[in-house]
Amino acid sequence: MSKQPIGIFDSGVGGTSIWKEIHALLPNENTIYLADSANAPYGPKGKDAIIDLSIKNTEYLLSKGCKLIVVACNTATTNAIDYLRNTYKVPFIGIEPAIKPAALQTKTNAIGILATKGTLSSELFSKTSTRFASNIKVVEQIGDGIVEYIESGQLYSEDMKSLLRGYLKPMMDANIDYLVLGCTHYPYVIPLLTDLLPNQVKIIDSGEAVARQTKVVLERNNLLNTDRIKPETEFYTNGKPEVMTSLLGKYFDVKYLDF
Ligand code: SIN
Repeated sequence: MSKQPIGIFDSGVGGTSIWKEIHALLPNENTIYLADSANAPYGPKGKDAIIDLSIKNTEYLLSKGCKLIVVACNTATTNAIDYLRNTYKVPFIGIEPAIKPAALQTKTNAIGILATKGTLSSELFSKTSTRFASNIKVVEQIGDGIVEYIESGQLYSEDMKSLLRGYLKPMMDANIDYLVLGCTHYPYVIPLLTDLLPNQVKIIDSGEAVARQTKVVLERNNLLNTDRIKPETEFYTNGKPEVMTSLLGKYFDVKYLDF
């Protein structure tokens, strides 16, 4: 069982930011990454559509024998993870915006959250925000368009920069000192965000926490792969393989798959 792969899916290429953290922390694990780029972005879709797409991705990964599934997409987690956990036997790891650490550490009592409409309007997000951030100012911003630019490979364009500048303005006006990234695509624009934000604003994403949680759940279920042989990594996309290849940073064979 433990040699079976960890399955990871996202609405597109953004979840590779999570795959990198998992691969770094659990280098013995075989992994299969599935990018549903043909259906990206998930953010503006309704809950039922997001659940249907999450089922499709999960069933593909289960057909490949995955022992655990990481939902490396905030929008799919906040809308579909309860359904997935109630329907399938394998453990699921989800990803939520890191509101708690930002709310605990803010000195200005103001934090910013950049996420999709699907995440910000979800019940899970609203519960987390009420629980951990009801005493501070939370500036929520829907990041419309960012995923589309990343999916089309236009990471550092001027258009992307001016989009981000507009999204950050209300946050800077509110004097935030933490910016929470609530979408797994967004870590890829951290260099642009850092350029645009004042030095004292710290950016938090959830990648490392997800990798740590994956390890804990594998250990708890006796599913860790302790083999010393080089792990196998498989990347599949129903979009453009070259976009994922360029984000992965080193060469991996990304295959086109019509799923
Ligand atoms: C999207 O597909 O709109 C974004 C994915 C995410 O929320 O992480």
